[in-house]
Amino acid sequence: MNSNSTLLQRHTPQVRANHWFVVIAFTLVALSGLAFFHPAFYFLSNLFGGGPWARILHPFAGVVLFLAFLLLVARQWRHNRITAADRQWQQQMMAIMMNRGHDLPEIGRYNIGQKYLFRTLLVMIPLLFLTGIVIWQPYFAPEFPIGVVRLAVMTHAIVAFIAMISIIVHIYAAYWTKGAIRGMIRGTVTAAWAKHHYPGWYKEMTKGRE
Ligand code: HEM
Repeated sequence: MNSNSTLLQRHTPQVRANHWFVVIAFTLVALSGLAFFHPAFYFLSNLFGGGPWARILHPFAGVVLFLAFLLLVARQWRHNRITAADRQWQQQMMAIMMNRGHDLPEIGRYNIGQKYLFRTLLVMIPLLFLTGIVIWQPYFAPEFPIGVVRLAVMTHAIVAFIAMISIIVHIYAAYWTKGAIRGMIRGTVTAAWAKHHYPGWYKEMTKGRE
């Protein structure tokens, strides 16, 4: 066993369906939100049937995103604990980026960058949900003092910006780690890929099989 072309299961069908559902929801929320964030993006409202429909659908899509994201978090939680090996790996990050990484600690299923992104989204998506509720006209906003609504509008916009930048970084990193997107589509990665990027996880997956 363990020729480098052996396939290892990285993501279950449930995680993959959940992840791509979150991607679709996030895309709809981001595009409809941008449409009424600035006139330069207003053309995006055509995707939703015009300005009023973009405005009506945005918060409902936001609730769907929040719930689907919580489910994904529950499924990924245990894989995102930061370990001593992660901290050491972080210290050697520059060397890894310059492809000079050697004598590195054996990181597990995800690297520290992924774990930080997980934490960032863990704060950003619930914040978007909470501030979104506060500013949701005509349902909830009238229940809050105007000062709170104004603060929530500002926070919502800033947090949305951070979340979008984080997702752009996430997509770039996924693309950069050739084979990762295939893993999230088909569920499997090659043993060679696992050994190279996540040696601790590779060992765990092949324990007793070598
Ligand atoms: C086109 C957009 C996206 C692409 C191509 C993409 C790609 C990927 C890939 C390839 C992985 C697996 C990485 C690995 O196996 O090491 C992954 C994991 C993950 N993605 Fe995405 N993703 C996208 C959008 C999103 C969005 C919008 C969210 C959430 C708002 C998200 C949240 C996650 C989470 C939580 C994980 C698990 C990583 C962890 O738990 O640390 N992704 N993504």
